[in-house]
Amino acid sequence: MAPTKPRIMPPLSSVPLPRQPLPEERVPAVANQKSEEVPETEKRGSDLIRIHGGKRLEGTIEISGAKNSGLKLMCASLLTEESMRFTNMPTTLRDIRTLTKVLESIGATIATGPEGTMVVQAKNISNGHADYELVRQMRASILVLGPLLARLGEATVSLPGGCAIGTRPIDLHLMGLEKMGAQITLEEGYVHASAPNGLTGADIHFPKVSVGATENVMMAATLAKGVTTLYNAAREPEIIDLGECLIAMGAKITGLGTSEIKITGVDKLFGALHNVIADRIETGTYMIAVALTGGTLRLKNTQLKFLNALVGPLKAAGVSFDEEGDDVIVHRNGNALVGTDIMTEPYPGFPTDLQAQFMTMLTQCQGAGMVTETVFENRFMHVPELGRMGANITVHGGSAIVRGVKKLKGADVMATDLRASVALVLAGLVAEGTTTVHRIYHLDRGYENLVAKLQACGADIERVRGRNDDD
Ligand code: EPZ
Repeated sequence: MAPTKPRIMPPLSSVPLPRQPLPEERVPAVANQKSEEVPETEKRGSDLIRIHGGKRLEGTIEISGAKNSGLKLMCASLLTEESMRFTNMPTTLRDIRTLTKVLESIGATIATGPEGTMVVQAKNISNGHADYELVRQMRASILVLGPLLARLGEATVSLPGGCAIGTRPIDLHLMGLEKMGAQITLEEGYVHASAPNGLTGADIHFPKVSVGATENVMMAATLAKGVTTLYNAAREPEIIDLGECLIAMGAKITGLGTSEIKITGVDKLFGALHNVIADRIETGTYMIAVALTGGTLRLKNTQLKFLNALVGPLKAAGVSFDEEGDDVIVHRNGNALVGTDIMTEPYPGFPTDLQAQFMTMLTQCQGAGMVTETVFENRFMHVPELGRMGANITVHGGSAIVRGVKKLKGADVMATDLRASVALVLAGLVAEGTTTVHRIYHLDRGYENLVAKLQACGADIERVRGRNDDD
């Protein structure tokens, strides 16, 4: 079936704000900020980050809501015609803004306000046609497929794009939906899924752990007839967050946080209020930053319990941790860091999204450390860039040996994906001289106010307007 053009929606300012009253209505008023208003920094795609290394980090950083939870929660909003209200949503991230446009293009209204408040209402939505131009910018857009199919019986979504960290197929998403009775065709780069008589609960065995497939199928199953059981499901904290939000919307789900999730379908879901969990990857990134520079950071509104796989190796390397309520205090004195090995795995293993940052830290350790990447097949793109700064890293297939060096040297480096980009920023924080990170638009996808947060803790870092030929 040839996809039709996406419906052109009127600007948000002409659409009445969704105001579904909720019992616990304690969210600050939501400003009528249109998603079309692209922040100035976002337009400047060729901006650079310039860092003069060698400053200790001392201070406090407020951790944002988790990007990889917020995106899925927005998609879950498609499961109900009532309004969903979120707090702690990282509304300034480029990925969140891209998904906003995807959801608006299919008829949802979205408004954001201060302190991460967001209201999404998907009252009159069309059956998809989520457009290539938007979906190609971000792989998470495929997460609209399950909710749209479950709610409308039909959906058409472009095959996704996203970070260039491997082939990243969506076969497991489609397999799960097919098991629930969906008929799926791929045409002209679009996935068309239909289930005219609704989805039916099924036993779904994932041959490989997939965060996105678990989420897509879990959302679809909330409105299917009967019971769906997901085996070898992903256990990431973001999946628990999504599941808890779905339960608040009226879904029946058990087994969250285990590899066997059971969903009993219901006829209808309702609006709810949900607070997005803290971004554990942002938290881990700043932990590694302080490991590198030395000093003390208080990371506010976050938790250590979802980062055990990082905390262990950081403690082994010489970093110490304290917890005070929702704050994590990370400290390293002047002692040398000690190299240690890590291997990325699905949660609760070491997160692939912290692998690049950890590799930067290993460049500053005594001895060597081995990094093995098992989740994605092409996630060492930061290695040649770290090499430009003097790092000694040898890659053999999915493993890299990092031999600690005395000092990294500032250089011009190129960001290639979100986490690789931040790994280069971390390298700049400890390098001798000036490091200039190019193509930092990747960072805008996933780190809120990175430069300001680091500046406030003593880093000598600035964002500067890049030349046009930078990209
Ligand atoms: C999520 O991606 C995250 N993205 C990624 O974060 C993260 O790196 C990844 O999970 C692993 O933790 C979002 O949540 C938006 P997967 P996702 O499906 O869901 C293969 C970041 O930097 N696979 O768990 O796409 C796949 O190729 C990003 O914030 C299939 O083979 O990851 C990969 O090798 C990058 N078939 C492995 O499974 C499928 O149908 C795990 O992928 C789906 C996945």
